[in-house]
Amino acid sequence: MRIRWLVLFLLLFSYTHGVGVNKKMNLAIIPAAGSGSRFGGEVPKQFLVVAGAPILIHTLRRFEECTEIGAMIVALPANEIDHFGEVVRQAGFEKPVRLVAGGAERSDSIRNALVAGRDYDPEVVAVHDAVRPFVTSHQIAAVVARAREVGAAILALPATDTIKEVEAGLIQRTLDRRRIYRAQTPQAFRFDLLWRANESARADGIPAAMTTDDALLVERLGCPIAIVEGSPQNLKITTPEDLLLAASLFQEMAGRMGREDHE
Ligand code: C5P
Repeated sequence: MRIRWLVLFLLLFSYTHGVGVNKKMNLAIIPAAGSGSRFGGEVPKQFLVVAGAPILIHTLRRFEECTEIGAMIVALPANEIDHFGEVVRQAGFEKPVRLVAGGAERSDSIRNALVAGRDYDPEVVAVHDAVRPFVTSHQIAAVVARAREVGAAILALPATDTIKEVEAGLIQRTLDRRRIYRAQTPQAFRFDLLWRANESARADGIPAAMTTDDALLVERLGCPIAIVEGSPQNLKITTPEDLLLAASLFQEMAGRMGREDHE
């Protein structure tokens, strides 16, 4: 009798503590295949060098630092794969960084990365824009943890401006600001949920150009998506003004770290 209880206890303990259970890894997908048309200039913004490294490398470092993430898949313009492969190699990441060719729209790039991601059989996938290098490993871990609980979670900021819906230059209505959040990334999902959401969008002919974020596809399925409060610092570098701001944020961070080293 006593033995039976002991076996039951051991089974329960190993289940709740993950002992002997092969815990699945979490994957990061970084879409970086944009041409940067809104930014202008020859070089897409994710490859511009700021504070000693391309913006994309800064972003990958945040995921390298986050213990919740096991591997990273980066979608790149097909003609950048060879060159950027070398840049990644020189950056010396410890986690696997796999490079795939992106597509015409952001959601096409995500799709290609998801196809590659199936090889890792991940539990959760965190999708993060290459051009948001100021995300913290704490934010990544928080979004992944919520996605594990709820199925999907995104970093978002409560709106501070009042938002108007406009048509042909005329206001149609004012949205209730207390209910408005600005979606950021990372956006994390149980891998099978994001895969199913993508398949469903394709089957229903949702235009890739309309899918500006991944949560949208999961919303279509009617599945819950949790909000984790983001920070204004998690800037998306879109315009030349954003790049100036990013340069000064990097400088401020370097100054802060330098001061900490001397304390
Ligand atoms: O164009 P947008 O600002 O939404 O881009 C967000 C992220 O998606 C960027 O990191 C960009 O490089 C990436 N992207 C992509 N493939 C595309 C278009 C954008 O990976 N075809």
